[in-house]
Amino acid sequence: MNSDYINYAEITISAVSPSQYPEDGLPEIVIAGRSNVGKSSFINTMVNRKNLARTSGKPGKTRTLNFFDIENELFFVDVPGYGYAKASNAEQEKWGHMMEDYFATREELVLGILLVDFRHEPSEHDMLMYDFYKHYNVPVFIVATKSDKIKKSKHNKHESIIRKTLNVAPSDKLFTFSSFTKEGRQEVWDAILAHLPKDDSA
Ligand code: GTP
Ligand code: MG
Repeated sequence: MNSDYINYAEITISAVSPSQYPEDGLPEIVIAGRSNVGKSSFINTMVNRKNLARTSGKPGKTRTLNFFDIENELFFVDVPGYGYAKASNAEQEKWGHMMEDYFATREELVLGILLVDFRHEPSEHDMLMYDFYKHYNVPVFIVATKSDKIKKSKHNKHESIIRKTLNVAPSDKLFTFSSFTKEGRQEVWDAILAHLPKDDSA
């Protein structure tokens, strides 16, 4: 597939339970991050669309796994943002169960992307999410969003804060990314495509 020209990108299903997960067998890449970090913008930027993944008017209300079929070659799986201050305990518990259902059983899962805000030190929730990926042995890419807000001269400093706070394994990739300037888009695509299981088709 050619990441410069994505022809097909559609939402296949917003799943509330495992029985609804797609059965195509395509590799799945999970996109997780706190509410408002830029998950929808990341997906839209990756597929060159303005509005494939829509921003919810009510943050924290989405409680589904959204499967986006990209070129019939892979799925981006958008999981609800965590760390939403107004989410009730019951809602948070539901979120946890849904995540465990998915992570514990899903063979199609090949990669976890963790979005963190490049401007800030990662939160407690970000650390838990990173450890959650590690617990399930999911390979992780860190994508630091909104990099357009940080001067180039400060990039190294912010990168090392993120790596240190999350205790990122040295072999895990970290990308700076901006939906506004498209910084990092090509690098992230190249890494994703290199990571996908090889198949016979060209
Ligand atoms: P929820 O679905 O509510 O959890 O949010 P989300 O993680 O999907 O974030 P979304 O993509 O909706 O972006 C949240 C806000 O951040 C919006 O106001 C975006 O315009 C802004 N934003 C997203 N990406 C960038 C970026 O690369 N640079 C800057 N400066 N702002 C961004
Ligand atoms: Mg969103």
